[in-house]
Amino acid sequence: MRKKITIIGAGNVGATAAHWAAAKNLGDVVLLDVVEGIPQGKALDLSQAGPVEGFHYSVLGSNDYADSANSDVVIISAGLARKPGMTRDDLLAINVKIVKSCAEEAVKHSPDCVLIVVTNPIDAMVHTAFTVTGHPKEKVIGMAGVLDSARYRTFIAQALGVAPKDVNALVMGIHGDNMLPLVRLANVGGVPLTDLLSTEEIDQIVHRTQTGGLEIVNHLKTGSAFYTPGLAAVEMAEAVLTDSKRVMACAVYLEGEFGIDGYFLGAPVVIGEKGVERILEFELTAEEKEALALSVEVVKTQMAATGL
Ligand code: 2OP
Repeated sequence: MRKKITIIGAGNVGATAAHWAAAKNLGDVVLLDVVEGIPQGKALDLSQAGPVEGFHYSVLGSNDYADSANSDVVIISAGLARKPGMTRDDLLAINVKIVKSCAEEAVKHSPDCVLIVVTNPIDAMVHTAFTVTGHPKEKVIGMAGVLDSARYRTFIAQALGVAPKDVNALVMGIHGDNMLPLVRLANVGGVPLTDLLSTEEIDQIVHRTQTGGLEIVNHLKTGSAFYTPGLAAVEMAEAVLTDSKRVMACAVYLEGEFGIDGYFLGAPVVIGEKGVERILEFELTAEEKEALALSVEVVKTQMAATGL
């Protein structure tokens, strides 16, 4: 059976996700948006890369959710992106309405899909999708940790002059300034990071990771990052579609894990065809628990602001 991925939102992130999904030959791609012409034009353009890149699935642009029917994975990237001077929280009031509508329509047309939410503020938006649809918690996943961990790994690799893929580093908690890049567990080819860089160097990398999104917003001025956010969402989708049991940091519904109950926050999980198949809980140090508690406070405030 051909796999099918729908991406809701044909802006920079969504169109980039469609690009990565097509190039990886993951399945038929549907790119949806409310704006007439944008998804159709971008999808038609991307589909014509098939003979060059060698992918053979279809890429369809549409304004009609009916075209998304029976998708295996639905990525929601629709919503406003921040601009310089804005925080992700500033997007909440508008994006909660957009995500609510997208999630309801997505699940109505693809009742068995795995939902991957990218729209910011992500920890509250993925919770919104979960609440309004009543979809199984393991099938509602937020994309953030893959992006934040990728930034963390990139900065470590650049500092050490090593291949980024040989850097293992995990970012947990909220997708925001209080995110928690774990220093204790980071390693380069199995060698502890703390044996390779000084405390000052590591602190600088942690801070740059925590503010990595804003650094790009300040460069672009008209929007936020999209290449790696789009790829990160597709990497999660690929793990679902191929049942690969990949271990990734994702915003998932916690019910007591890491001492957190009833909120979505970034944690290491196993992703397979069922969505979140396991949460890899481990003992945190007192300092890490304290740092993670900051994430909980922020997401509680965000959830209160959604009015859900
Ligand atoms: C970022 O961190 C857009 O929130 C996303 O770049």
